[in-house]
Amino acid sequence: MSLPTSTVQADPQWWRRAVVYQIYPRSFADSNGDGIGDINGIRERLPHLAALGVDAIWINPWYPSPMKDAGYDVSDYRDIEPVFGTMADAEALIAEAHAAGIRVVLDIVPNHTSDQHRWFTAALAAAPGSPERARFIFRDGRGVDGSEPPNDWMSEFGGPAWTRVTEADGTPGQWYLRLFAPEQPDVNWDHPDIREEFEQTLRFWFDRGVDGFRIDVAHGLVKDEDLSDINGLPFPLPDDTPDGVEHPHWDQPGVHDIFRSWRRVADSYDGPRVFCGEIWVGRDHRLTAYLRADELHTAFNFNFLMAPWLAAPLRATISSTLAAHVAVGAPATWVLGNHDVCRPVSRYARPQELLQPGFPNLQPYLALPADIEAGRRRARAAALLSLALPGGAYVYQGEELGLAEVEDMPAEARQDPIFAGTGGANVGRDGCRVPLPWTPTGDSYGFGPDGGAPTWLPQPAEFGELAASVQDGDPASVLTLYRTALKLRAGHPALGDGELEWLEAGDAVLAFRRDPGFACWVNLGSEPVALPDGATLLLASQDLIDGRLPADTAAWLAL
Ligand code: NOJ
Repeated sequence: MSLPTSTVQADPQWWRRAVVYQIYPRSFADSNGDGIGDINGIRERLPHLAALGVDAIWINPWYPSPMKDAGYDVSDYRDIEPVFGTMADAEALIAEAHAAGIRVVLDIVPNHTSDQHRWFTAALAAAPGSPERARFIFRDGRGVDGSEPPNDWMSEFGGPAWTRVTEADGTPGQWYLRLFAPEQPDVNWDHPDIREEFEQTLRFWFDRGVDGFRIDVAHGLVKDEDLSDINGLPFPLPDDTPDGVEHPHWDQPGVHDIFRSWRRVADSYDGPRVFCGEIWVGRDHRLTAYLRADELHTAFNFNFLMAPWLAAPLRATISSTLAAHVAVGAPATWVLGNHDVCRPVSRYARPQELLQPGFPNLQPYLALPADIEAGRRRARAAALLSLALPGGAYVYQGEELGLAEVEDMPAEARQDPIFAGTGGANVGRDGCRVPLPWTPTGDSYGFGPDGGAPTWLPQPAEFGELAASVQDGDPASVLTLYRTALKLRAGHPALGDGELEWLEAGDAVLAFRRDPGFACWVNLGSEPVALPDGATLLLASQDLIDGRLPADTAAWLAL
């Protein structure tokens, strides 16, 4: 499983500058025509990823799962979900990706298991107070007959975060904590079995050549000892929160000890094995606390993802992100989308002044008018911005095609537990998870073979014209923009890890230089602006107008 030494991949610090492509396996490519993407589909499409020029792929959970939350309900952490393929397919993919110079990052889900995991079925079969129940978070209910949940915590998917079980004698019994769906019981990280089990799982996959893990809900593993009520405390905690005030189940200080231990496991391997935390904590210094030298290597920068397409907030979040990361010696990451949030084209299509802070899935955007062409222009510019900033970047599948969120999916097609869990009040995340179009025609636009089962989420008609094969070779396409940008980025000594220096270019323009000899200009205003004298254009997200940078356009310049 050695990597070609001629590429950026030979760099032991590859993760400090990598462009990582996120594969949502259900929706990437379907090799066997069952309507659901699979590992052999990924293998067949590796040439697309190699031509795109990504350094690594991150694959969302591919483990056996009842799929109550699209694979984030794992019933066996050391095997492959049959719908996705076999262990042999997975090993072949790892080898083939490596041969193409692409690292492989998996997704580990340590906050909760599936309710079908052997440990949870054993816990349900055992009595209150048993060792089997101690691996999860079981409590008696409140109220005279225990019919009220043990505390006021709420599920991320709607309703209380507790589910009551029926005991062996048929009576209503204890409650178990599940911060997500009822089928995702939270595990008890104070229990030594849990620590041991997950470290063995890391080793299992590292031994198979996997280069790293994205860590699901990394800030959620440790809960307040007393499971005390939240009492309306907001999360993320506001900037002026006094030291010592902690939320009872997010970002508890005890979580860092777990990742120090995981880092020791990763560092016991020869090649660099790396972690990226999914950490929604708001305040920069709380994010970068996870990135101290003996903890995680990187974390998703969701503050950047959540910033509106407006110069002042973008500049502010970029500056504060970089300052916090420099303080711990970690590289920042730049993220525009993923399988949980509304696609950037559709976010940027909304009037940006009207966006409210909060979790950016589709629901809050539906009330705002959308100008998808403006969104697509801005998403192209945002791509060049994110790929020019210091550190690493993530590309969620379909961003390189300029796909928009599918907003009008019929209710009966929706699969996300958020939709059902909120009684339809929140449409959920299906709109960013629609199977990719590879060809302009065909039953599933090339996602699977013709004549196969319908795709697991319906594709809109507009997907045909956005298909990868249509964009291939078109100099104006989003795909060509991404390919060109990634190629320039890989070969330019100023790009990737490092620093930036802001340049003065007016309130509506983000302009920065990176040494040696590179500058990025992004026009967030409404009028074209002049570019600096003597600079040579390397790449722009739209054609210049009489040598000027149009609105909603980014340019890469050689100085
Ligand atoms: C974050 C994942 O990205 C999301 O898809 C999932 O629903 C939750 N964690 C629960 O695992």
